[in-house]
Amino acid sequence: MQVVSTESGVASLEADAIVVGVYGSEALSGAAAEVDRASGGVITRLREASEISGKPLELTTLYAPAGIKATQIVVLGLGERAKLNAGVAYRAAGAASKSLSSKPRQRVAFYVGEGWSNDLLEAGICGSMSGCQGQDLYRAEKKRHPFAEIAWHSVNESTLAAGRILGESISLTRRLVNEPPSEMYPEAFAVVAARVAEECQLDSEIWDRDRLAAERCAALLAVARASARPPRMVILKYQGAAADRPWLALVGKGVTFDSGGLSLKPSDSMKTMKCDMAGAATVLGAIRAIARLKLPVNVIALCGLVENMIGGDAYKLGDVIKARNGRTIEILNTDAEGRVVLADVLDVAVERGAAKIVDLATLTGACVVALGTDVAGAMANEQGWCDEVLTAAKATGEPLWQLPMWPEYNEHIKSEVADIRNIGDGRWGGAIAGAKFLEEFVAGKPWTHLDIAGPAYFESNKPWQDAGGSGLFVRTLVELARRWATS
Ligand code: BES
Ligand code: MN
Ligand code: ZN
Repeated sequence: MQVVSTESGVASLEADAIVVGVYGSEALSGAAAEVDRASGGVITRLREASEISGKPLELTTLYAPAGIKATQIVVLGLGERAKLNAGVAYRAAGAASKSLSSKPRQRVAFYVGEGWSNDLLEAGICGSMSGCQGQDLYRAEKKRHPFAEIAWHSVNESTLAAGRILGESISLTRRLVNEPPSEMYPEAFAVVAARVAEECQLDSEIWDRDRLAAERCAALLAVARASARPPRMVILKYQGAAADRPWLALVGKGVTFDSGGLSLKPSDSMKTMKCDMAGAATVLGAIRAIARLKLPVNVIALCGLVENMIGGDAYKLGDVIKARNGRTIEILNTDAEGRVVLADVLDVAVERGAAKIVDLATLTGACVVALGTDVAGAMANEQGWCDEVLTAAKATGEPLWQLPMWPEYNEHIKSEVADIRNIGDGRWGGAIAGAKFLEEFVAGKPWTHLDIAGPAYFESNKPWQDAGGSGLFVRTLVELARRWATS
């Protein structure tokens, strides 16, 4: 998919479709006004007839309008200009792109960015790229047909390049999540990570089972043990600043399939558990983007990759495992496996000198109960660092909300036989119990945990993007790195 800028006038551009923007309650402007003029007032008539309201993500197609060279014009609602933000820009462009990609189209142009900041344009470009890519990787008859070329009107070269890099990185994350577990197992993920490392000239280490054992990653290995697919830990380093500048660690849960283990999930809950590596996929997408953008920061990405399966060798309820940092864990539910894997990965992040840590994990159904499917939960051991992550998410329009980590919650993970247990006591507050467990492995470093169990994977189609891997939080992590660079 080519992503280019065009300076051509809207009337004379040759394209299969051109998207123009209208706002809720203001006069037509920019490309929409030009189309209106060239076509003898079509958009004005439709507005007067209340066919076009300009509410966010509204789509109205004008087929072969007079005075316009393109085959069709899509009039895209952008809502109130005052409420426009990067989230709206991403979703609005995505909605137009998704709708147009139901048929193969060569060139689709976006003339919606008049007066937009570079941040809005970048988000819009990402949305236009995501909207036309679906989850039908293995279907002969495709529902989505990615455009050969996406053109944005009058975008400067650096914004265009950044939008393209981010859009591609989001696509990578989404594709990794959408790949079936038959294709995307720990080794396969590591192969993709190695390819990204090569493309971006990252320092990379891939730990196999022997290395993991030598490194005392007993917790990760316990979860992985019953699978025929051996585990991996992927460690990628991007050094964009002097080596003595602080390192930002991005840690991802990479459970390529979560059957629940001996605490087996019911079939219905297992159906989407290929998505349980979304944290790792997000981290990989983000470090790719950060490196390709050449941000002046030091970032280390660590992914714990396992399959949580059943078998004669499976880890059991009642097992006590000594994690890499020496803490002993009593296993009381093998389906609370993500935290057990991350225990060792977080310890490696600390050992590698991380100054601050963010982890992303599809960790708990409880977080989805608390916040709904569309919002991720943030939990942290230090408010300042949490605020930085929340601010980055807000700037990109990605949905993140903080949950408390008061000391009272420490009770949840107390064990009678080991240092800690891997599930809370009782059903309630499960997202926080998970975070409290992880906190034991960050050695007091500033750390923010993002539980993305809800929004990492769309169970149904959204108006702006097909169901499946969402790619959410790649942009947040990149924004965080940008802010880190200037702080
Ligand atoms: N991978 C799941 C969490 C999940 C649920 C992700 C729904 C995406 C959508 C996780 O490993 C898990 O099974 N968590 C358990 C924890 C419980 C056993 C304490 C859960 O949420 O039920
Ligand atoms: Mn599980
Ligand atoms: Zn899981």
